[in-house]
Amino acid sequence: MKANRFLVLLLFNFYFCYSFAQLSFRVEKDIAVFYPKDFDSVQTLPSPAVIHTLHKKYDLPEKWTLLPEFKSIAGKSIVEIKYEPGTDLYGTGEVTGSLLRNGKNVTLWNSDNGNYLQFNGERLYQSHPWVLGVRKEGTAFGILADHTWKQQIKLGESIQIISDGPTFRVIVIEKKSPQEVIKCLASLTGTMQLPPMWALGYQQSRFSYYPQGQVKEIADNFRSKKIPIDVIWMDINYMDEFKIFTFDPKGYPDPKELNNYLHSKNVKSVYMIDPGVKKQAGYEVYDEGEERNYWIKNSRNQPYVGKVWPEQCVFPDFINPEVQTWWSSLYKNFMDLGIDGVWNDMNEPSVFNGPEGSMPPDNMHKGGNSFPDGPHLRYHNIYGMMMVQATRKGILDANPGKRPFVLSRSNFLGGQRYAATWTGDNKSSFEHLKTSIPMSINLGLSGQPFSGPDIGGFSGDCSAELFSQWIALGAYYPFCRNHTSIETVSQEPWAFGEKTERASRTAINRRYKLMPYLYSLFREASVSGMPVMQPLFFADVKDPSLRAEEEAFMLGSELIIVPRWAKNVKLPNGNWRNITLEDYDDGYQAQIKIRAGAIVPVGKVFQSTEEYNAEEITLLINPDQKGNASGSLYDDAKDGFGYTQGDYTLLNYQAETKGSDLTVTVKQIAGKRKINQVYRIGLVTSKGIMYSNPQKGNKIKISVPAN
Ligand code: GLC
Repeated sequence: MKANRFLVLLLFNFYFCYSFAQLSFRVEKDIAVFYPKDFDSVQTLPSPAVIHTLHKKYDLPEKWTLLPEFKSIAGKSIVEIKYEPGTDLYGTGEVTGSLLRNGKNVTLWNSDNGNYLQFNGERLYQSHPWVLGVRKEGTAFGILADHTWKQQIKLGESIQIISDGPTFRVIVIEKKSPQEVIKCLASLTGTMQLPPMWALGYQQSRFSYYPQGQVKEIADNFRSKKIPIDVIWMDINYMDEFKIFTFDPKGYPDPKELNNYLHSKNVKSVYMIDPGVKKQAGYEVYDEGEERNYWIKNSRNQPYVGKVWPEQCVFPDFINPEVQTWWSSLYKNFMDLGIDGVWNDMNEPSVFNGPEGSMPPDNMHKGGNSFPDGPHLRYHNIYGMMMVQATRKGILDANPGKRPFVLSRSNFLGGQRYAATWTGDNKSSFEHLKTSIPMSINLGLSGQPFSGPDIGGFSGDCSAELFSQWIALGAYYPFCRNHTSIETVSQEPWAFGEKTERASRTAINRRYKLMPYLYSLFREASVSGMPVMQPLFFADVKDPSLRAEEEAFMLGSELIIVPRWAKNVKLPNGNWRNITLEDYDDGYQAQIKIRAGAIVPVGKVFQSTEEYNAEEITLLINPDQKGNASGSLYDDAKDGFGYTQGDYTLLNYQAETKGSDLTVTVKQIAGKRKINQVYRIGLVTSKGIMYSNPQKGNKIKISVPAN
């Protein structure tokens, strides 16, 4: 009997081991960190997500409510956090399904998940061990599970993080509003660096434009049809047998000439580079990596070989800093061909014949710097992030005077520091058009402000109707790229007939007109981490009725975008007024609403951001009840790093109404750059927008009509 009890106790201790944190303290007034009893720093630190060392500043006060409870059950490390009923949960990174994450179960194991079909759509290309909670009355918290191992986030009555790895530390943020939590996340995990302005323009892609002459035709068509465009994308077929850093001698014999041609049309080029290196003796990249022993190893300590586009491939071990340095160096000659940006794909990594479409968890990585050697189970989720870190450095080393642009399919919490993202292989369906909105919003609420889906959808044929609806929405995604798969019908804006072409032109024109505002939002995101695309409840965090709205969304804090097809949208209180952007209403364009009290700077249509300047600005003004409004505008050289030395302008606009006079005062509040602006005021009234004549100076005056 006694022996039995002893056995039960032993088993109990083996399977279930509960404890509160052994060590907990505050790093700032409202940021606490909790370490479990058996915390072993070598297993989870350094943190690839958190950029600061977390030092104790204050004790944890007794009234602190969010207390992680650490458990081990059957070999899993579990953290459970109880939260107040009625709290709305968001974040968890790149996920399909609703904006609200309550009741969801997300697995963090980066997966190539075409059409989001596998794993119930609950496992996609990226991992963000992060949950944002917004309480009924609008206060908010954030939970960061600071480790990379394969894990699950279960959002039930409590928040549970269940890891296949060892125990890990948890960071808890407590703030007065969700916006403050998001800014705090950015202070911990870093912000997106300001992209070159061209990356904010419209972008055209397909798998694949081939041969290079077709790319020129596409560029010419955009210009002759007067549809603005900034970038054309080169997918894998430009390569010779899909070997990275090579060019197909037949289809892409002269990439430099192609890039020069594109540049002469004010179009930039982005080329794809995957991580899989074709296993072929005599191929320089393979030979070099092989000789230096740079590949990920299998459990028998041999280079792991798996199938991707080039058939048998080996995979650079980006966890090893030496490999990162080598990878960066490969971009020098490549970028010298006049390539403007790099697209890193398949970096989950995707392996066609590997377990669950990737590599075995017992593959081995070599560490370096502070990362120890370790299994793929630990490093899988940051493989893509480590790759784009090295890519970014490589293209910056190649062109030190230019802002790098990298697009990555895979990434990890904090990866906004290195790359923008798109939401992988969606399909041409209305369902995926709709889900793209909460997907991009939740990415923004997880630290990644620069995202968007393949406009028009990747797999399957798009239709005229679907494309018109998608481009009319797509004009407002932070990342605005039309992309489609190899087997599908053409998906350029003109491919579906005149009506769709016109709808596309109008939508893309609108994006370019909004560029002064959009660029200012990107600058803000790069400084504070505020998302560009925001959930509608950000307009009024105390109004619980807005919390689930996922058709309409906000572009910055001043505009609401209501897609034309959206029904029963929940709108915030306040005098949000409709604006048009002086274009024809074709029945597809989204409704844009401006906040009462806001000034939004808009510009002219440019065919490319190369031509953009902020010299002629229309200030759309929706005065509040007192007749006041305010806004701002950021402008700089659009590329390069002069802005870090003060070569930029940050303007503040204040509008005041006295009697029938409305005066806008323009004040430069930061930066050394001067711009001569001509202003037109677009006063937003209940009867439409009234435009003034253009005026110069720092005080712009108009007469307000009596209502
Ligand atoms: C992957 C990418 C897709 C790309 C294709 C070919 O499926 O997600 O965007 O077109 O590979 O490179």
